Amino acid sequence: MCGIVGIVSNKSVVKPLIDGLKSLEYRGYDSAGVAVINDHQPINIKQVGRVELLDQEVTHNDEAMNAIIGIGHTRWATHGAPTTINAHPHSNSSNTIFVVHNGIIENFKEIKILLENEGYKFISDTDTEVIPHLIDYYLKTEKTFKQAFTRALDDLHGAYAIAALYTKTPDSIYVARLSSPLLIGIGNKENYVASDASAIINHTKQVVYLKDYEMAVLTNKSVKIHNFKRKTEIIPKTEELDFDLEKAKLGNFPNYLLKEIFDSPETVRLASAGRVRSGSNIIKLGGLENVKEQLKYIDRIVIAACGTSYYAGLVGEYLIEEIAGLPVEVQLASEFKYRSEPFSRSTALIAISQSGETADTIAAIKKVENYGVLKLGIVNAIGSTISRITDAGVYCHAGPELSVASTKAFIAQVTVLTEIALSLSNGNSPLFKPLVDELSILPEKIVSILGQSKNIEQLAKKYSKYKDFIFMGRGYAYPCALEGALKLKELTYIHAEGYAAGEMKHGPLAMIDANFPTFVIATDSTMTDKTLSNISEIKARGGPIIALVSEGNKSIKSYTDDVIYVPKTLEQTQPLVVATALHLFAYHMAMALGRNVDRPRNLAKSVTVE
Ligand code: M6R
Repeated sequence: MCGIVGIVSNKSVVKPLIDGLKSLEYRGYDSAGVAVINDHQPINIKQVGRVELLDQEVTHNDEAMNAIIGIGHTRWATHGAPTTINAHPHSNSSNTIFVVHNGIIENFKEIKILLENEGYKFISDTDTEVIPHLIDYYLKTEKTFKQAFTRALDDLHGAYAIAALYTKTPDSIYVARLSSPLLIGIGNKENYVASDASAIINHTKQVVYLKDYEMAVLTNKSVKIHNFKRKTEIIPKTEELDFDLEKAKLGNFPNYLLKEIFDSPETVRLASAGRVRSGSNIIKLGGLENVKEQLKYIDRIVIAACGTSYYAGLVGEYLIEEIAGLPVEVQLASEFKYRSEPFSRSTALIAISQSGETADTIAAIKKVENYGVLKLGIVNAIGSTISRITDAGVYCHAGPELSVASTKAFIAQVTVLTEIALSLSNGNSPLFKPLVDELSILPEKIVSILGQSKNIEQLAKKYSKYKDFIFMGRGYAYPCALEGALKLKELTYIHAEGYAAGEMKHGPLAMIDANFPTFVIATDSTMTDKTLSNISEIKARGGPIIALVSEGNKSIKSYTDDVIYVPKTLEQTQPLVVATALHLFAYHMAMALGRNVDRPRNLAKSVTVE
């Protein structure tokens, strides 16, 4: 999704601005731009496509290179096609005000009509363009830019993170946020603003997270924040960024996706470190300590999440119900927020999110705020919005995930959900000891799946010619089937569906023929025989079958065309080994088709709009 970076300094800001935009590229974007002010003269340069192209154009502009203040943006189109005109920064007609914006201004049409009636002319299709014109409009009556900016903010509905420049105050960047992340970096004789820590981490680790309805004025010497709703000054609370640049480096891997899939064993270790100890009957989840008493009275859990995090939530449903005996309901955050369902104070909401910035998941948390519901988070990005608006939570500690497709985050989320289930069982489940022991040896089992990468690559070459796929499984394998299908479609653009194996006869079987392969997850479980019957039904209709089974299953070969073996593990930890194999399969299929695996078309890493 869109990204923002802004710098005010006493030396040239162009290179760090462009570097900041490059580090935001992983979020997904279609155009980029920067606006800088040099000697009161604005320079606004925009490009469709790669930041690299923008870099070439900006660095050939001597005026721009001398600027010591600037804002930049990577855009992921929502209103209007990806064109230079629609790219940010947007400006007023006299080119004195420049604005970059993340989010959506929901009432932009109404504002646009009002401004058009006042004689304002619009050139883009974007919602953002109303902002510089609106500030311009208020500048006619307000004494200062800050006052005009605040008046404009009062009129905007929706979600926004905004950074603005004004040529008549060329030492200041004006920023504001509502329901869209924005942080301020505190440097030495320079200050920064960014929508994502990765854009400024090279310069400072000292940051202030802006909260909703806060705006700030940044110069190279000061940061002044105030709440524009309550009209109060805010004393900035500086925090230290916990972001490991080393972990985000590619090393010898050809792309982030493969690196992140290969991070999976370490991901389980990091998500278990200090929490799970063999031989102990306590799971130590420091992030839940302050709600320990409240958790004793919880009799229902609702999990809300999107995409892969939602599928991790479905695995969590099976885990928590089986291990802790608590009823769990998993809901798509985008649906949850509009449902009218009853809540009691004995319900806990668990929001799961890698980025901690997904708009729908944030909205789900906000929805329950007035019900007295305990709000918990399972989040990877430290300091993100969800980690800050929940009452308590457990971090995934998977390190930065840069590839748009979420892989290691799923592994971390499922590991954390296993720990939460064990913790809620208070050590009373017969599965407690076996699971704790299994978690400690699981990373090695995942390593052995990664060792099969070459075989899976061969398989992918054979299957990449097909246009449709179905993934199926029962029990814990069912959410894995959904995850396998999502990963395949998102990375390869092949049509793929995930199904509960028992549902095949209720409709999907009609699609099966020699051109429609089925990927069956049939790892050892109490239901393996039933899944085998489903395999036979597919075979009888001529459908090609790839089966993912536990090591030692010799009979499966006679039923299927191809087999992937994964190490034996408990049924409850199977999703961790199965998902790694599915992630590798989707990866190699995408590579066989020549796809951009880190940045699939049309997608963004962090979905910060509805
Ligand atoms: O950051 P989140 O975990 O909240 O993101 C949720 C989904 O947008 C994300 O999992 C998405 O489905 C991935 N592209 C899947 O690989």
